Amino acid sequence: MCGIVGYIGKEPLISFLLNGLSKLEYRGYDSAGIAIHKQDSIKVFKAQGKLDNLRSLLKGNEEDEKAFIGIGHIRWATHGVPNEINAHPHVSFENKVALVHNGIIENYKELKEELTVKGFVFQSQTDTEVIAHLIEDCLKDTKDFGHALRCALKKLDGAYALGVLFKEDPETLYAAKKNAPLIVGLSDKGNYIASDVPALLEYTKKVIYLNDLEVAEIKENSIKITDIEGKILNRKPEIIPWEPISINKMGYKHFMLKEIHEQPDVIRQTLFNRLTNQTDPIKLDEVKLTEESLKNLKRIQIIACGTSLHAALVGKYLIEEFIGLPVDVEASSEYIYKRVVSDKNSLTIGVSQSGETADTITALRLAKEKGSHILVITNRPDSTMARDADSLLPINAGFEVSVAATKSYTAQLLAFYLLALKLAEINKSLPAEKLEEYKKELLHLPHKVEMILNHTEEIKKCAIKFNSSKDFIFIARGINYPVALEGALKLKEISYINATGYPAGELKHGPIAMLDKTMPVVAILVPGKVFEKVLSNSEESKAREARMIAVTSSDDKKLESVFKYILKVPQTDEIFSPILTTIPLQLLAYYIAEFLGKDVDQPRNLAKSVTVE
Ligand code: G6P
Repeated sequence: MCGIVGYIGKEPLISFLLNGLSKLEYRGYDSAGIAIHKQDSIKVFKAQGKLDNLRSLLKGNEEDEKAFIGIGHIRWATHGVPNEINAHPHVSFENKVALVHNGIIENYKELKEELTVKGFVFQSQTDTEVIAHLIEDCLKDTKDFGHALRCALKKLDGAYALGVLFKEDPETLYAAKKNAPLIVGLSDKGNYIASDVPALLEYTKKVIYLNDLEVAEIKENSIKITDIEGKILNRKPEIIPWEPISINKMGYKHFMLKEIHEQPDVIRQTLFNRLTNQTDPIKLDEVKLTEESLKNLKRIQIIACGTSLHAALVGKYLIEEFIGLPVDVEASSEYIYKRVVSDKNSLTIGVSQSGETADTITALRLAKEKGSHILVITNRPDSTMARDADSLLPINAGFEVSVAATKSYTAQLLAFYLLALKLAEINKSLPAEKLEEYKKELLHLPHKVEMILNHTEEIKKCAIKFNSSKDFIFIARGINYPVALEGALKLKEISYINATGYPAGELKHGPIAMLDKTMPVVAILVPGKVFEKVLSNSEESKAREARMIAVTSSDDKKLESVFKYILKVPQTDEIFSPILTTIPLQLLAYYIAEFLGKDVDQPRNLAKSVTVE
């Protein structure tokens, strides 16, 4: 989704703006732009499409490297089509203000009407442009630029992270935020702003995470942070514990393929220091609830979006199975518009690879207001969600570049296995031998994932065979039902082929009408409680001439008469099978998209971090 960078200082400006934006590119965007302060005026360059188009536009402007202050943006369209006019930065009517914005201004229509009556003329279809005009309007009553900015901010409803330049203040870069992340980077070569850490890591690790309704007035050698009323705040910088991220495909054609192959190590990393031996208790020191309060929990709710929601569904199954406590799973966007039923005897778990998904942040805040303890499972311990949380369970998947989540999902699953087993330990709800057996199997999983990754020929064959299919159906039951949903989502996301996941038992209540000899049906079935049931649902599909593909660990000969393609995974207890059955589905989606020549790492219309509602 959108990304912001800004710099004030004597280092080459354009190089920083472009390099900083390139570090945010992985999030997904459709246009880019920069504004620099040059000889008492503000120069703006914008281009539709990828950053390379902006780079080409800037060729021949090498002199601009010497400009002292600038802001940059990549835009993921929300209001108005992705074109050059709607791209950021936006400039006010009399060119006195230029700004970049992440977030959505909810009352922009009302503000636009008021400003139009006052004579402001709008160029774009965006909500952002109103902010530029609004600040300029506020400048009529004051010569204090910070004051004008704060005056405008008070009129905005919605979310914003802003980088602002004033034509008449060439010595200051302004920034502000509410419900969208923004950090200020400090260095002895000048100061920076960015909407996310990767943009700054090559330049500085010393940062201030702005809080909501704070405004930063940033000079080359000093930073003043105020609240929305202008009261000066004393904010201490902190050091980000990250190494510069090597955004490198390491010989793989796409980041997604590299990240799929990193999964065995990701599992090892997530287990590291938490489970080393099957006979030891699981260490989850990050969960700050006492054993007593964990025992007294009456209910758990899990809130998430997208792929994280599918991990949450596996988590629900595990916790209910291991300790018999009711668990509700809700899409964050649904949770926030209904009565929030939560209290101090409930645990609310937020799951998010980015930790910045706007809907999940809002949902968790609502649950917190009701007194629930908030536990966040995320790959970004520096994110807004992690900062808001009462307990944080980091998943150590490493930086994930591909928009389609793969390794972060597997690590989220691991976090749920650890949490559910820990709860079972505390509640003594599983026999000791069973617990030990489960822990032993968890420790074997990385090797089993490696075995799948070392034998991908059958998956590739399947991808070649099925890449011209227009629709796919994925079916499974029990703990693999969320895997069917995730398999369908992965395929949709990167190949744009319509795909739907169903509980296999639901097939006969509607989807079976879709089956004919053109329809591939992918069934996930592993020996255990529901194997025979899914097999029988698969037979029903085959009887309607569907093209049958199995993902299974079974050697049962019966499968050969039902399935033309059998994608094998190693044997494991059914309860752990989602970690294995997911992998062939990620690869199937990948190879189909790759075969079709799609932009695998940055699929159209999608964003890595969805910071707007
Ligand atoms: C976006 C991403 C998905 C992700 C979802 C939830 O749509 O493209 O891959 O699953 O957001 O994101 P989160 O960061 O909260 O897991």
